[in-house]
Amino acid sequence: MNDLQNGNSELELIFSDSLEMSIRDFLNQMMIYNSGIKEIRTKLEILDEEFQTKYSYNPIHHIESRLKSIKSIIDKVKEKKLDVTLENIRSNITDIAGIRVICNYLDDIYKIEKMLLAQNDVTLLRRRDYIKNPKPSGYQSLHLIVEVPIFLSDGSSPIPVEIQIRTIAMDFWASLEHKLKYKSDNEVAEDVRYRLKICAKAIQELDTEMQNINNLIADRNNGSEK
Ligand code: GTP
Ligand code: MG
Repeated sequence: MNDLQNGNSELELIFSDSLEMSIRDFLNQMMIYNSGIKEIRTKLEILDEEFQTKYSYNPIHHIESRLKSIKSIIDKVKEKKLDVTLENIRSNITDIAGIRVICNYLDDIYKIEKMLLAQNDVTLLRRRDYIKNPKPSGYQSLHLIVEVPIFLSDGSSPIPVEIQIRTIAMDFWASLEHKLKYKSDNEVAEDVRYRLKICAKAIQELDTEMQNINNLIADRNNGSEK
C-alpha cells in the first residue's frame, strides 16, 4: 500500500481546511517541480564536467537542492491572502523547486549564470544580484528564477526553478547567519546584526582577494607557457 492509499496524515491535516484541490493532484504537481530540479541540476553538472574535461578545472564546488515543504507552500499562499488552490500555487509561488550552486570563485558565479541562460530551453523570469547589491543583513548571492519545460506523457509544461548561486564563503556566512537568526527567540539584537554585517564585509574582501590570487596564478601560468 502506498502513502496515497494509506492516507498520509500530514497531508490530510493540511488539506482538511483546503479542500479545493485533491492530494493526488497536489502530489502530481510536486513530482513535476522535482523534475524541474533534476533538469536544472543535470544542466549544471554537464557544464561543470565540460569545464573539467576542457580546462581541468571545476567552477562548481557542489550543488544542493530542495522542494519547498507543503506547510511553507500553503503558508506562503495564505500570506498572499489567496485561496489555497493548485492554480494559485502554480501562478504565485516560484520557489517550490530550489537549487543552490556553491562556486569556488566570484567569477564562476557569473560564468555559470551566462552558460545556463544561453541554453534555449531556459527562460529567465527574475534576476536579483545580491552580490553587487547585498541585502541590508549583508547577505550575498545571485538569485535567478528560470523556467524550464518538463515533458510528460501528455505534453510539456514550463516549470519555475529558483537558483541561488554563491561562493563557498558566501554560503558559510548565509548558513551560519540563518542558524543564528533561528536561535534568537525574538528579533536579532542590533549589536548582533551589526557584527554579522561586519563578517559579511570580511567575506566580500576574502572572495575578492581569492579571485585576485587565482587570476594572478593563471596569468603567471599563461606567461610561462609562452
Ligand atoms: P521569499 O518570499 O523569502 O522567497 O522572498 P523573495 O521571493 O523576495 O526572495 P529573496 O530574493 O529575498 O530570497 C529569498 C531566499 O534567499 C531565502 O529563502 C533565503 O534562502 C535567502 N536569503 C535572503 N535573504 C537572506 C538573509 O538575510 N540571510 C540568509 N541567510 N538568507 C537569505
Ligand atoms: Mg524563497
